[in-house]
Amino acid sequence: MTTFWSTWICVLTIGSLIGLTWLLIGTRKGETKGSVDQTMGHSFDGIEEYDNPLPQWWFMLFAGTLVFAVGYLILYPGLGNWKGVLPGYEDGWTGVHEWEKEMNKADAKFGPIFAKFAAMPVEEVAKDPQALKMGGRLFASNCSVCHGSDAKGAFGFPNLTDADWRWGGAADTIKTTIMGGRMAAMPAWGEILGETGVKNVAAYVRHELAGLPLPADSGADVQAGQQLFSTTCVACHGANGQGTEAMGAPNLTHPAGFIYGSSLAQLQQTIRHGRQGHMPAQNELLGNDKVQLLAAYVYSLSHGLSTERLQAEGKRE
Ligand code: HEC
Ligand code: HEC
Repeated sequence: MTTFWSTWICVLTIGSLIGLTWLLIGTRKGETKGSVDQTMGHSFDGIEEYDNPLPQWWFMLFAGTLVFAVGYLILYPGLGNWKGVLPGYEDGWTGVHEWEKEMNKADAKFGPIFAKFAAMPVEEVAKDPQALKMGGRLFASNCSVCHGSDAKGAFGFPNLTDADWRWGGAADTIKTTIMGGRMAAMPAWGEILGETGVKNVAAYVRHELAGLPLPADSGADVQAGQQLFSTTCVACHGANGQGTEAMGAPNLTHPAGFIYGSSLAQLQQTIRHGRQGHMPAQNELLGNDKVQLLAAYVYSLSHGLSTERLQAEGKRE
């Protein structure tokens, strides 16, 4: 902080404290000792204001906060560039230091537990109730904003509790997805296929691949749609529309796994403009050990390995 701003803050803070002290003493002086029934002399609709002294407790509380403020400003950094007389604030006070201290404490406490799980295969970690509990908490604070607190997803965000996987549901693949993130790239076809082409291929996807009914007035040529599919879409979605995990191209025969909707209008929208789903990478943010627990937790969701069930089984053994 420059000397100017430091001085400015000191003047403002000390000035306010002096002003408040003066106000407190000033109002107390003006009080007529012992008189409790004197009014200020005015009356509004018969309501009068009494000129009673400040209650003792209130006065003491106010004086106490002033003393506290002075003590605090001497002990801790608060007045411009003043560092405070307590040790540990040489760099000034910032939340970062407090956060680092907390994180170091947490690392010392949880580090060995994380290390134990990091050395195990994800499938094994997914059978440990303690790991799942920790993974569940990590999920709630880092993933639920997008995937939902029940991990069942939402429009544009995949459900992680079912058997439909865009990038693959093997334990290690899930971990790779979370560590490195994923960028899906479904190209926009509107310009290339034209409006009729988009309508036809959307009708083909909905009726022939996803097995959903077509409205009678759709006016689409499913046959022509199939032609387009076999020339433009198979490279990524596969000959039978079963998808390609390496590209994150979803299985189009299973509409329950669609994240952008399966109505004709939604399918046309997806095909016309393309989609770029982005799963953010967590390796830098959370690191390997936490992602290990998250991968185990996500894996457990679709493999019937709930904490409750594992604990119940543990008791039976
Ligand atoms: C900003 C939103 C966002 C956050 C936060 C987020 N995700 Fe995702 N995630 C996505 C999107 C979008 C996709 C789908 C990407 C695509 O279109 O292929 C996805 C995909 C995935 C997949 C792959 C699903 C599949 O079908 O292959 C997994 C696993 C996953 N996320 C786990 C997590 C975990 C665990 C966390 C918490 C660390 C997390 N995600 C946080 C948006 C998010
Ligand atoms: C370059 C590879 C590629 C080609 C070619 C391609 N797609 Fe896709 N498609 C993808 C990817 C990747 C996604 C996932 C996008 C996402 O998750 O954001 C996708 C998503 C979709 C979806 C949305 C599914 C859902 O989850 O809601 C539909 C529908 C679809 N494609 C249809 C088609 C059709 C029809 C064609 C041919 C005209 C086509 N795709 C061509 C890669 C491709």
